[in-house]
Amino acid sequence: MTDIVATELSIRVEIPGNIPAVREVNERAFGRETEAALVDTLRANGKFALSLVAALNEQIVGHILFTDLLGSAQRLAALAPMAVLPDHQRAGIGSALIRTGFEYLREQGYDAVVVLGHKDYYPRFGFVPGANFGITTPFDVPPEYLLVAQLSVRPVAPGKMLYQPEFEAVAP
Ligand SMILES: CC(C)(COP(=O)(O)OP(=O)(O)OC[C@H]1O[C@@H](n2cnc3c(N)ncnc32)[C@H](O)[C@@H]1OP(=O)(O)O)[C@@H](O)C(=O)NCCC(=O)NCCS
Repeated sequence: MTDIVATELSIRVEIPGNIPAVREVNERAFGRETEAALVDTLRANGKFALSLVAALNEQIVGHILFTDLLGSAQRLAALAPMAVLPDHQRAGIGSALIRTGFEYLREQGYDAVVVLGHKDYYPRFGFVPGANFGITTPFDVPPEYLLVAQLSVRPVAPGKMLYQPEFEAVAP
């Protein structure tokens, strides 16, 4: 007889007890300490807009962070970083983190989410080129990597998207 082990994914707001696991997920997903250290610094500086963890059978296997973008009259969040443990990638965990994050942010009155990410991955969540809205970032990345997802009916106003200063330490 085959044992069937039920696997249950739950997406939750990060709590202090998750901090070591969040650090490990980021270190293992990115294969370096940069993003994990950035998350720790942003947390210490009180810069989280929303930090979610993905728990699979109570093991933390994924993490996503949203921070407030500065310099806009609208409420705009930056998605970065996002990480899923290598053994658990391509199983829909990253997608669940993004979709749940959007629900929380919409409830909190955010107008849009901005990401610097892959154009083949993010459009499935409603991201479109930032150029459609006339937005830019101070970072030196090709324009097609700047994507924006609307959460409210208020279109994103054109302008430069300013990340929290802590991101400058890891800027591309
Ligand atoms: C990016 C990441 C968070 C996605 O999480 P995930 O749980 O694997 O994503 P999902 O299972 O929801 O989505 C899978 C889809 O994402 C895309 N995808 C995921 N990882 C990818 C990768 N490394 N390269 C290219 N596409 C990738 C694929 O199109 C895949 O679709 P498929 O199932 O048809 O192959 C995860 O791969 C990761 O931690 N990567 C390392 C860290 C990183 O680069 N983070 C993003 C920048 S902040």
